[in-house]
Amino acid sequence: MQMTSAEIREAFLAFFAEKGHQRVPSASLIPGNDPTLLFTNAGMVPFKDVFLGDEQRDYSRATSSQRCLRAGGKHNDLENVGYTARHHTFFEMLGNFSFGDYFKREAIQYAWEYLTDVLQLPKEKLWVTVFTEDDEAYDIWAKEIGVPTDRISRIGAKDNFWAMGDTGPCGPCSEIFYDHGEEIWGGPPGTPEEDGDRYIEIWNLVFMQYNRQADGTLLPLPKPSVDTGMGLERIAAVLQHVHSNYEIDLFQALIKSAASIIGTDDLDNKSLRVIADHIRSCSFLIADGVQPSNEGRGYVLRRIIRRAVRHGSMLGARGTFFYKLVASLVEQMGDAYPELKDKQKVIEQALQREEEQFGKTLERGLNILNEALTELDGTVLPGELVFKLYDTFGFPMDLTADMAREKGLTIDEAGFNEAMEAQRQRAQQASNFGVDYNERLKSNQKSEFLGYTDVTGESEIVELFANGEAVSELPAESKGIVVLTRTPFYAESGGQIGDTGKLIVNGGEFLVEDTQYIGKAIAHHGQAAATLKVGDKVAAHVDSHRREAVKRNHSATHLLHAALRNLLGEHVTQKGSLVTAERLRFDFSHFESVTAEQLDAIERQVNEEIYNNLQVSAAVMPIEEAKKAGAMALFGEKYDDDVRVLRMGDFSMELCGGTHVRQTGDIGAFRIISEAGIASGVRRIEAVTGAGAVQFTLQQQQQLRHAASLLKTDAMHVAERVQQQIDRSRQLERTIDELSQKIAAQAGSDLIGNALDIHGVKVVIAEVAGVEAKALRSMVDDLKNQLQSGVVVLGLAAEDKVSLIVGVTNDLTGRVKAGEVVNVAAAEVGGKGGGRPDLAQAGGADPTKLDNALSAAKTKLEALLR
Ligand code: ALA
Repeated sequence: MQMTSAEIREAFLAFFAEKGHQRVPSASLIPGNDPTLLFTNAGMVPFKDVFLGDEQRDYSRATSSQRCLRAGGKHNDLENVGYTARHHTFFEMLGNFSFGDYFKREAIQYAWEYLTDVLQLPKEKLWVTVFTEDDEAYDIWAKEIGVPTDRISRIGAKDNFWAMGDTGPCGPCSEIFYDHGEEIWGGPPGTPEEDGDRYIEIWNLVFMQYNRQADGTLLPLPKPSVDTGMGLERIAAVLQHVHSNYEIDLFQALIKSAASIIGTDDLDNKSLRVIADHIRSCSFLIADGVQPSNEGRGYVLRRIIRRAVRHGSMLGARGTFFYKLVASLVEQMGDAYPELKDKQKVIEQALQREEEQFGKTLERGLNILNEALTELDGTVLPGELVFKLYDTFGFPMDLTADMAREKGLTIDEAGFNEAMEAQRQRAQQASNFGVDYNERLKSNQKSEFLGYTDVTGESEIVELFANGEAVSELPAESKGIVVLTRTPFYAESGGQIGDTGKLIVNGGEFLVEDTQYIGKAIAHHGQAAATLKVGDKVAAHVDSHRREAVKRNHSATHLLHAALRNLLGEHVTQKGSLVTAERLRFDFSHFESVTAEQLDAIERQVNEEIYNNLQVSAAVMPIEEAKKAGAMALFGEKYDDDVRVLRMGDFSMELCGGTHVRQTGDIGAFRIISEAGIASGVRRIEAVTGAGAVQFTLQQQQQLRHAASLLKTDAMHVAERVQQQIDRSRQLERTIDELSQKIAAQAGSDLIGNALDIHGVKVVIAEVAGVEAKALRSMVDDLKNQLQSGVVVLGLAAEDKVSLIVGVTNDLTGRVKAGEVVNVAAAEVGGKGGGRPDLAQAGGADPTKLDNALSAAKTKLEALLR
């Protein structure tokens, strides 16, 4: 029966209306009041609360054709669109629902009646699956409907237990498959070939029984219910005798319009399929109120539009084209979905705007990508590049992944996420501590810093901020920023992190979580426990324990800098530094990695200067004088006329505004924890001092002790023992190799020795064991070489599958095709194979039938060679 998509949709709804179901119009793609779900992804979504018993309706049976979106969230098909015959971002799901009314029996009967009576699909083309433990559904299919049992498979939870999302209604299901015919490769559900395209699921009957909780437990629903879903596009493909959904009437119309708008006649191009799919999801999303944006649903929409635009550009589209397709979509679907017609203008405008915006950077982004590809070494696009394309050129990550995939590459997703997170943090800092407050600072306050000598001090509040605005009073229990006339708190600068501590005001406290400059004012960020007012007197207390740790790390950074210049050379200059209480990080220019010996020397020198206990002193002097004296200044950095010069004996002299120990001995100890390159010509060393250094050393010692005890030796002999172990295992590997070669040779000659003679042709037929499936090919090649003329059939049984291989020497391929033989054998173990006339392979699911497979091969050979 040939039916258009519109006719199938109507016939479905009419059939179930006839069976007492209420016709319910499609709900929006945006689930109402359901924060657990990004989009309506199945026909049952609008009925979720009815299934759960939280909502009552005046009907207990319903039918609908629901628009669905599977892009982002639990069910996501975006990446597959264009690459397969039947994945879509947007599709229509035909469904019938019972809310505590009928259950398995009627659900199965109705489905069968609709498919075989109304649509008149041949019964022998239909296959069904049930959930492994669902004997009830199995018996209904087998005994009541009369489906032959070899066309019913029991399948596990992965495919036959359906859930809407991580939480919500769910239950076992039974799926109906359609056999597209033997010209197409693939096997029935549950066979090793099930991923082929021959058997396609068309209808899913879910027996809703549970409500899944966030912790995974399944609570029973008030009443057993039914939820079914049949993709309109799939069933249309069946009825229109086409294999791919993209060949059905509705898609062909869209593909033809797209081709004519873009100006291509390559109608089979996958990019046209992508565009035809994406215009549907994008138009319906906009009709349902979503606009392109940088987060949530809006970002999913943006990603889909940009993917479509990129595919248009691959087809040679010039200028905007995507929005022009809306008219054709309205023609196809506007009758069934009036909202599409109503919103046509809005949809077109939004798409056009987004296309124009992305069109501006698309070309440049593609150039950057292509350049990077020519230099790429390996098959993974670096996260930083993916991020740059995202950040500067508006390429969503999955768009770049799509382009990479076309070139056989993948992307470094973790690297991308890292770069994204780093940027998020920068942005957050900028918005909290940056320009905003500078502009809002009223007083021209320059706070006096007391912290070089003191960790406490008396002061007065000059300004307060809350929520980004200047306020005269900061209420208790609120977050805010306090600016003081003078303060011992160090504001983050020169790589040294800001101080934490507390301000005591009116007998209450303000907990300082961070200290930052706003202009020249020192701003204390934190949480008020008491009400603060401008003009209040304050006693400031820096967390001195933390400050001491920061000081040790900062002073050690200076020692490290000087040691690097002594030991690696004067080319070493500071490229960046971070000093926190836990550790120090120092980036510097150097063109090769620092060797282990050099690192040891650096560590030794810094520690020497620690126990030399150098005097640390600071003096403020004119910049010229400081430079003349040889103080290290950062190139390109702007300094005031007067600068602070920090000396550590004669070992180090740097311009620095940070806080430091009084004598280098206070640092205690210094240990390097890592060294690495971070950019071309820039290295990074991370190190710890004081208690951190002791802790690090102890940890290493524990590891070493543990290793020593495993090796039954002492710490000083660990390396020696490891070397012995390595030598020994190499020797064992060699022995194993030799033995397995011998065994294989022996097995090979046994096989040859036992070769059959079938009508004058030497034939080896055998089950092999103890080898990997991958090794079968080379075994066959060897045997063929040894036979010179003959046929080899090998079978290998593993836990739950069988591998079969057939090889034919070239002189015999006129009489025997390897593929024919392997297929006959594979049929016995529930599989199917393929290959060349001289070599063919197959897989199968039933290892217990391997003997039958080999004898079937033998019988076939006897016939062929006769
Ligand atoms: N809700 C079921 C599905 O989407 C019918 O497969």
